[in-house]
Amino acid sequence: MNKKKVPFQKTIFVCTNVREGGRVACGNPGRGGLELCESLKRAVKEKGLKGKVRVARSGCLDLCEQGPNAFIYPGDEWASGITPADVPEIIKKLTS
Ligand code: FES
Repeated sequence: MNKKKVPFQKTIFVCTNVREGGRVACGNPGRGGLELCESLKRAVKEKGLKGKVRVARSGCLDLCEQGPNAFIYPGDEWASGITPADVPEIIKKLTS
């Protein structure tokens, strides 16, 4: 194993899990997880944060009904029910 320092100042993990068969999931059509992830990626690029902040898709974070869900690493905050209107606030947190 090769170990090294985390290459990003902050990473936000956004659940984009998709489920078929009617079970709720953040990445299902109409749930907003995929769109949120893309909005965050766009905002990171626009703010010149690429290379410092990483937006990463995650699998299920186990609070599916409350999604879309995301958390920032390092940090101790979890966000649920995120909408596109929340992106600017999230970007602030990613740079603080
Ligand atoms: S599908 Fe997103 S938390 Fe489970």
